Formats: sequence, structure tokens, C-alpha cells
Amino acid sequence: MIYFDNSATTFPKPEKVTANTFSFLKTSCANPGRSAHKMSIESSRQVFECRFEIANMFNINDPTDIAFTKNCSEALNIGIFSNLEENDHVITSVLEHNSIIRALEHIKSEKNIEITYLNPDEDMTITDYHIENNIKPNTKMVVLSHANNLVGTFYDIEKIGQITKKYNILFMVDAAQSAGKKNIDVQKMNIDILCAPGHKSLYGFTGTGFIYANEQAKVKPVLYGGTGSFSDDIHQPEIMPDKLETGTLNVVGIKSLLEGIRWINSVGIDIIGAKENALAKYIIRKLIEIEGVTVYTPLNDELAGIVSFNIDGLDSSFVTGVLDLKYDIAVRGGLHCNPLGHRYLGTLESGFIRASLSYFNNMNEADKFISAVKSIKSNSGLNI
Ligand SMILES: Cc1ncc(COP(=O)(O)O)c(C=O)c1O
Repeated sequence: MIYFDNSATTFPKPEKVTANTFSFLKTSCANPGRSAHKMSIESSRQVFECRFEIANMFNINDPTDIAFTKNCSEALNIGIFSNLEENDHVITSVLEHNSIIRALEHIKSEKNIEITYLNPDEDMTITDYHIENNIKPNTKMVVLSHANNLVGTFYDIEKIGQITKKYNILFMVDAAQSAGKKNIDVQKMNIDILCAPGHKSLYGFTGTGFIYANEQAKVKPVLYGGTGSFSDDIHQPEIMPDKLETGTLNVVGIKSLLEGIRWINSVGIDIIGAKENALAKYIIRKLIEIEGVTVYTPLNDELAGIVSFNIDGLDSSFVTGVLDLKYDIAVRGGLHCNPLGHRYLGTLESGFIRASLSYFNNMNEADKFISAVKSIKSNSGLNI
């Protein structure tokens, strides 16, 4: 199968990720941070090393400011619910994922908070002046993705971080579509809270993610219970990461995330990002040439390996079905958990087809994909 659904989760995982994780699972996987025997200690070591590698990758000073979550949505929810209070104002954009929008709208239904949804520029990006023009005396937080999942454009988070720092506003970044393919430096970019999944472009298994929060930001537990620490206390520990890591950690997933990050470091983030960017642009250029195909991803200098489009007159879910069944190509159709973005693009009714790439895709696959789209467009490819 040609797998172009990497924005949902990456496939395949690098060989080393699966091999080393399965070997750990077979030989030494126990409950980390609970017992004192060799296997438990080895499991704790893997968790520690993963925290340490995440800290290195994102220039986080203290690895204990990172807590593991089960995905990016959980991390984003913790960041949002921990910090927004009555009468706060928050700035976000119409291009954000539902894991931000629904969390914000839920708080709004319970508390008096005000949300500003920014529209992007024509190139589908958000930058510093969008933020500066919308700051109010009660603006508490700016919550934005680094690259959106709809069309894969990057925002200039370094410039935005300079503005949030100047006005003393919390800056929370959703790195779901960028971590592992574009450099993020939380100190240089003044990021207070960083959330990422482990299972997308960090190449770990599903069931993984993390939140980093610095000392300006708050983090509150969503679950209470055993942490393996302070076991004489009937109250949840107040220190990070224990206060967020209730119950047995997904140590197998965390080990896979550790191996994913090690693999990325061995290849190089810049190389991975450049490869996906070049392939995305190649596909866009070819799709634009096909009459009756509408491409939504703009040809910006840098793209996060996402190409979104529709074939005029054909339902996007129907096209993805044909691509799957007849051409063995996996893409996603319909709506992409981003209702305000779809409304902004005028695709809330139709949805669209999203082809999303990883380091493991190549030109040959891109050509097969383009030729399949051409056949579907000319109707000859519709008979399954
Ligand atoms: C931009 C963005 N944010 C957040 C998420 C949620 O990630 P997860 O599925 O790991 O919760 C996604 C998932 O596709 C995403 O694309």
C-alpha cells in the first residue's frame, strides 16, 4: 500500500523503532517507578531516557518539566484547562484542530472567557502582527499550532513568541504536525507550553504524547491516583511530572518514542523536513496542472508534507474509497477535525482529500498517486 495518511499517524515506523521496542517488550518490560527489581529499574531508565531525549530535541532545560500523555489532545487539554480562568481572553486561529477548539469552547460554556479566532493571511499563515493587533489587557494565552493539519502551512512561532514575551502572555504551541520535521526551541521561541503526539512525526507508537510546561505556566492533573511516589500521602503529588502521570505509564509506547527520536536524530530533522517539503511541492505542482482539481495547500516555501485538494464534482470520501480499493493508496477524505478551518476554506460541506507524507514516501509513490488522481478525474479510473 502507498501510505499517504501520515498526519493521522505515521506508517511505517522505522525498523529500529519496532525492533528495539519489541526486544525491550520481550526482555525487560516491567512497571516503571514502582518496584526495585532489575526489570522495573530498566523500565524506569527507558522512561528517563525518553524524557531526556525530548528535552534535548526541544531545548528544554529540565526533563522533569515534561509529562507523558496518551496523545496530543490530552496534552493540549491539560495546558488549556490548567491556565484559563474566569474573565480571561485567549487568542487562537480558525485553522486549529478540534482538540484546541473544543477544549476552548467547553471552558467558554462554563466560564466567562473570550476567544479571538484569527483568520490567516492569504498564504494560510499566522504571524506576529495578527497577535499584536488582537491583544487586550486580559489576554492570558495564545494557543496555536506550529503547522496546521488542514493544509500543512507553518506559522512563524518564533516571531509570535517575541510578542507573547513582550506582553507577558502565555504561549502554548501544538506541535502535532511539526515535531520531528522542523526544529523547535522552546527557549529561543519563548514557548511556555509545548504539546506533541509521539505517534505522528516523532515515529513512536500510538498511545503516546507529551506536555512540556515551564514555571510561568500551570499544569493541573486530570486524573488522581497512584504515581509510585510519595506513597504515604493521600494527596496527589504537586511536583512535575508525577502530578500528571497517574497510573502505570505506557512504557512500551514511551520506549518506541525514545527509539523514534533517536532515529530522527540519526537522520536529521532538517533532512526529514526537506524531503517531505520537496515531495509535497512536487505533488502540488502536478495536481495544479490537472484541470478540474482544486488544491487548497498554497505553494509556500516550507510545507509540513500535507497536500489537500478536491476533484471537482466528486465527493472526497468517495475518491478516497476508490484510491484505497482500486489503487491501494491510503489518504484521508471528508472533514479533518478542523471545522472553523473548513468553513474558512469553504469546504465545510464537501470536505477534501488530504495526502500527508512521511520520510518514507518517495517520488515513485507520488507519481503513482498523481496518475491515479488523473484516471479518477477522467472517470476511467472509477470502475473498481
Ligand atoms: C494539529 C493537530 N493537533 C492535535 C491533534 C491531536 O493529536 P492526537 O490524535 O495525538 O490527540 C492532531 C491530530 O491529528 C493535529 O493534527
